Amino acid sequence: MTSQYATSSNFDIRVNFAKKYSTKNWLGWLAERLPITSSDKVLDVGCGTGNIWLVLSHHEKYPGTLTLYDKSPAMLSKSTEVLKFMQAKSALTSLVGDAEDLPFEDNSFDTVLALHMLYHVKDQPKAVAEFARVLRPNGKLYLTSNTTRNMKPIFETAYQAFGQSGVRVDPGAHAFDPDTAKTLLSPHFQTVDKELFVDVYRVSSQEDVVNFLGSMTEVWSPTDTQIRSVPSHVSQTFKNTNGTLELDHECAMITATLGD
Ligand SMILES: C[S@@+](CC[C@H](N)C(=O)[O-])C[C@H]1O[C@@H](n2cnc3c(N)ncnc32)[C@H](O)[C@@H]1O
Repeated sequence: MTSQYATSSNFDIRVNFAKKYSTKNWLGWLAERLPITSSDKVLDVGCGTGNIWLVLSHHEKYPGTLTLYDKSPAMLSKSTEVLKFMQAKSALTSLVGDAEDLPFEDNSFDTVLALHMLYHVKDQPKAVAEFARVLRPNGKLYLTSNTTRNMKPIFETAYQAFGQSGVRVDPGAHAFDPDTAKTLLSPHFQTVDKELFVDVYRVSSQEDVVNFLGSMTEVWSPTDTQIRSVPSHVSQTFKNTNGTLELDHECAMITATLGD
């Protein structure tokens, strides 16, 4: 994980891929569903470059206090820089650290966000216990993640290129599957609900797919020869597609609520 987020450039490649091919607005969809108000104390774990807060600000959703927290100093400093404009509306704090060990008191937040990050965490039950610990009674955790149905042809191509060490589905969904999240969350949270977001990307450029896979190759630990084989595997995937590869982009928003 650490080298993938040593700078934001790999993450930016995937964000730009989504921007180019999406027909629906994922962050807008999510922002509509996040009930952030000016009295809320919010912790954003694995905040990355802080993209959701740009969109929430368009919806005039500013929390009273926002704590940005990420393991990668580079990602965190980018979000802190990008979100400076929020200082007029919210008290902002940023801290580098691991989701498995939150440096906050019990019951200190109304809301915890963990957006597209839990699959990177080694000890997920420990992180979930931490999310629950720092939330106040009846507090809410919002988790997002891709499903195992996300962009299957791309990950099938990765499997062809990188061989048996790879998995055939989105590696994020392999590490944390929203379809089975209830098992992980129920020991701490009273209710766990899931809502799916589905879009279809019609991808026209083989180079975009090669770059997308290049942005996350560390997941598969491939050899140099395997990396060099990626363009020909992508070309093979594009054969029989009449030049356009259709990819279902599917992710889930999970809302978990603490008891009294
Ligand atoms: C895919 S990005 C998601 C960023 C942001 N939440 C979003 O949805 O745009 C994953 C982020 O999680 C961070 N991360 C990974 N493992 C972490 C951990 N164990 N504790 C805290 N942050 C972590 C990475 O540094 C990265 O910024």
